[in-house]
Amino acid sequence: MIEVLLLVVLIASVVQYVRIRRTMSFARNLPSVEPCYPIIGNGLLFLGQSDEKRFVNVNTALSHPAKLFKMWIGFVPMICTNDTNMAQKILTHPDCMQKPYFYDFFKLEYGVFSAHYDIWKGQRKALNPTFNQKIINGFIPIFDTCAQNLTKRLMNHKTVQIIPFIQRCTLEMVCATTIGTDLNRQEGADKLSYLIDKIFHFVSRRILSVFIHLEYVYRLTQDYRTEQRIRKEAYKYANEILRDVRARKATETIESNDGDEFRKPQIFIDQLLNHQIGKKFEEMEIIHNVYTMITAGSDTSGNEMGYVSLMLAMHPGLQEKVYREIMTVFPGSSDPIITPEALKQLQYTEMFIKESMRLFPVGPNILRTPIKDVDLDGLIVPKGTFLCISIFNAHRRKEVWGPNADKFDPENFSPERVEGRHPFAYLTFSGGTRNCIGSRYAMFSLKIMSIHLVRNFKLRTNAHIEDLQFKFDAMLRLSTEPEISLERRRTGAKNAEGGELRPLVTS
Ligand code: HEM
Ligand SMILES: *[C@@H]1O[C@H](CO)[C@@H](O)[C@H](O)[C@H]1NC(C)=O
Ligand SMILES: *[C@@H]1O[C@H](CO)[C@@H](O)[C@H](O)[C@H]1NC(C)=O
Repeated sequence: MIEVLLLVVLIASVVQYVRIRRTMSFARNLPSVEPCYPIIGNGLLFLGQSDEKRFVNVNTALSHPAKLFKMWIGFVPMICTNDTNMAQKILTHPDCMQKPYFYDFFKLEYGVFSAHYDIWKGQRKALNPTFNQKIINGFIPIFDTCAQNLTKRLMNHKTVQIIPFIQRCTLEMVCATTIGTDLNRQEGADKLSYLIDKIFHFVSRRILSVFIHLEYVYRLTQDYRTEQRIRKEAYKYANEILRDVRARKATETIESNDGDEFRKPQIFIDQLLNHQIGKKFEEMEIIHNVYTMITAGSDTSGNEMGYVSLMLAMHPGLQEKVYREIMTVFPGSSDPIITPEALKQLQYTEMFIKESMRLFPVGPNILRTPIKDVDLDGLIVPKGTFLCISIFNAHRRKEVWGPNADKFDPENFSPERVEGRHPFAYLTFSGGTRNCIGSRYAMFSLKIMSIHLVRNFKLRTNAHIEDLQFKFDAMLRLSTEPEISLERRRTGAKNAEGGELRPLVTS
């Protein structure tokens, strides 16, 4: 069996190698990331390394000082850039809106994140309005309740690894705002997120092992069988949840005949099911987009808020500044009434969050693949080539961010400094028409979590920025999360004794 597998892999590899070499001759004169060998390419950077070492190696490779350079992952070639204008060109080029074939491994090809260009185009146009400012304003009460729940849960702890708590909170937020499901009532949704996580684990593994990229080779592996089993279970839960949502919607339509149609915020699923958005979504598109939003919206903001919390804990002076601003906008000790206008006033808090996202962008690399040959400053890049923009590197380039690019400094986002900067220098939410659809949603939820955290606790940690290590993953994940100590603040503590509003959780 193993011999057959090896032979299949070998033949497939040679065929692929010869084919790709021919089309890749355009890149012959581009500098290459080293060390590089025939057939395995830059594979030594990944093979047999720990996840931490892989992160460092890939990141160092992607910091190569050239406007255009190439990197090989197995025999798959990738063109990368160190240049802001080039990044803009790629991210805004109409023929570069497609993602490489291995996004298909997520098997969410009818969801907007991994869909091929032709499907993506119509979906994205239809979905953009579902993230407009009015709708996101309507989510504020949901973000608020979930963030209050987060601080309640934290009150039982003196020191914590905070990210799992926050992830739970962002998952509650995204379930409530996309499918209207209260995670605390619906067992299925909780289970579903666990299953989706598992699926992503298998997909990431497969993306890194070029030898199992080919579907018929992958099918011979144990991973494939396990992944299939998990998927089956996940789809079962997803269908149950969707059935519940549909049943609920049916009763709501009857109720809303009393003329009270606007009492609830229009959540994502309502818009998909009601076809209010100018495009009829097929069953599969609805399921894939619900999955997409839950995954794209929870783990991302969850980890990002983890980085914000760590930065608050590491910089007590700046934390006080954030605290003072929050107390100025929301004075008094009772629960603040959060409005869009008040959120806008939190300018320093926003600078603080943006700076955290600069140093720790949860989507560290973006990949694209042109659907036609494209001209990048005179270099004709054939369709099907991979293009890569390393956001992590772009955010730490001294030429752009100055000699202290590695230091944490919210003043990087003062109005004066922002004004003088290239619009594509800061790419936390990517750029162009295939950027993050949830960027405003994320900013609101991060601000609201910050309000509740900082009003209730003083955060401290012994860790330093230089201590943070990352794992190689599609997302920027810490290899070990430092502990944060939480000291109750008076403002919050007084609240918590208010009984009904903020009962202490005793578990
Ligand atoms: C701080 C939090 C977040 C960060 C840093 C972030 C970052 C990103 C980045 C870099 C991309 C581009 C990925 C690529 O090109 O492969 C992206 C895409 C996307 N994000 Fe986010 N995101 C965040 C939160 C959210 C939230 C809260 C949602 C939804 C509620 C969301 C939904 C999406 C979707 C659907 C896409 C795919 C868009 C498309 O391909 O048209 N994200 N995000
Ligand atoms: C990018 O690489 C070019 C050489 O190709 C170099 O001249 C330039 O300074 C680099 N730019 C940045 C921002 O690193
Ligand atoms: C907040 O937490 C309480 C108790 O854990 C739970 O019953 C409630 O459903 C939560 N609310 C939300 C919106 O998650």
